Amino acid sequence: MDSIKIEGGVPLKGDITIGGAKNAALPLMTASLLTAEPLTLVNMPDLADIGTLSKLLRHHGTRVDQSAIGAGHESGDAGATGQTMTLTADRITDLTAPYDLVRRMRASVLVLGPLLARMGEAKVSLPGGCAIGSRPVDLHLKALEQLGAKIDVREGYIYASATGGLKGAKVTFPKVTVGGTENLLMAAALAKGETLLENAAREPEIGNLAECLNAMGADITGIGSGTLRIKGVASLHGARVAVIPDRIETGTYAIAGAITRGRVTLKGTRYDLLESVFTSLRQAGVEVEDTKDGIVVSARNGIRGVDVATDPFPGFPTDMQAQWMALMATADGASMITETIFENRFMHVPELARFGADVNVHGASAIVRGRKKLSGAPVMATDLRASSSLVLAGLAASGETVINRVYHLDRGYERLEQKLAACGARIERVSPG
Ligand code: UD1
Repeated sequence: MDSIKIEGGVPLKGDITIGGAKNAALPLMTASLLTAEPLTLVNMPDLADIGTLSKLLRHHGTRVDQSAIGAGHESGDAGATGQTMTLTADRITDLTAPYDLVRRMRASVLVLGPLLARMGEAKVSLPGGCAIGSRPVDLHLKALEQLGAKIDVREGYIYASATGGLKGAKVTFPKVTVGGTENLLMAAALAKGETLLENAAREPEIGNLAECLNAMGADITGIGSGTLRIKGVASLHGARVAVIPDRIETGTYAIAGAITRGRVTLKGTRYDLLESVFTSLRQAGVEVEDTKDGIVVSARNGIRGVDVATDPFPGFPTDMQAQWMALMATADGASMITETIFENRFMHVPELARFGADVNVHGASAIVRGRKKLSGAPVMATDLRASSSLVLAGLAASGETVINRVYHLDRGYERLEQKLAACGARIERVSPG
């Protein structure tokens, strides 16, 4: 298993180009199941999770073609890389999403809505547990039931059917759910009549999906708000859609610049995708400028402790919480970080402590007392975003850091070592002999 070795303490200087958003690309790929015509996605990131979902979609009968073939990943799907991807599901050949493919990635459950809407039937493995919490799919299932689906959960599988088709309805999510909103949007696009979706997630990735569905012939209004109105149509057609920039990759590299007290320019991304994080960075004393050449982040005057609490968009993203903690571990003064989305998302705390970080967890909050210096250590990646907080701490720490289990990072960060090394970081991937 690969590891990443970092010799820390170098202020980063240079440009980093941000790729397409993983969390937008995955639902866009599953939208291809809604039509027999080709769906072309541009600005696709080169990530292991994209390979995993390509495998599942091929299993359902989708043809997945890429414009450029890259190196491939540990997911075993060497073909699933490149900048442009065309998915053609002219014939759905299998209605089952098997455990072996779903368990690797929770987003696989997004095939449920499209399969059910187009084919009237689907059998999808329950995604199961996950390091950051139990992450059930009950809200997805309840919402689909409100559109008339019959759902039965047994032997680890969701059996869903809608003989006679889905019917539009008023659905109110009791809690904001990104995946639930996406599954329902795709199902309602082909339902009979109108669906009114209240308390919908407002994440930019939802907007990307809704715009894609509209480009495919759907009728969705209210995009960007918490209330989505979907007028069902009889069929959808092909389209060509661009994946939005990855706001979590953007925020991670912004913090890489700040934590090393360097200056980086983030290219190919958008300020409006991540205002909450940029605002917190400014409060911490980091200079952030949105220029025509990119977003310039520099931290020459030190970092102050700033409290944050995670929230659905436009709030502070839970997927940036671990990286923020790494930054706060190097700040002047203390800060409090509160996690409101997932119940067990402080897995990175014991690993950050190995760098000398001073963090105390009390329930859903963590108190971080900044330290003048972190020192490098051998650590272990536990989940995707926790892993990036260890990379950030390693970049700031003096001495050597070795991060094990980096397959977590490969799920969500493309060419991480190359992008950081281009800004002066001493970082390399080490493969076992
Ligand atoms: C998505 C993102 C993930 C991010 C999360 C929150 C993708 C592929 N993943 O995950 O990176 O951290 O949004 O911004 O886009 N919940 C239920 N029942 C459900 C569904 C969710 O109780 O049926 C709970 C979850 O356990 C969690 C909260 O609702 O506590 C939010 O989850 P949700 O927004 O659904 O996250 P995901 O779509 O899984």
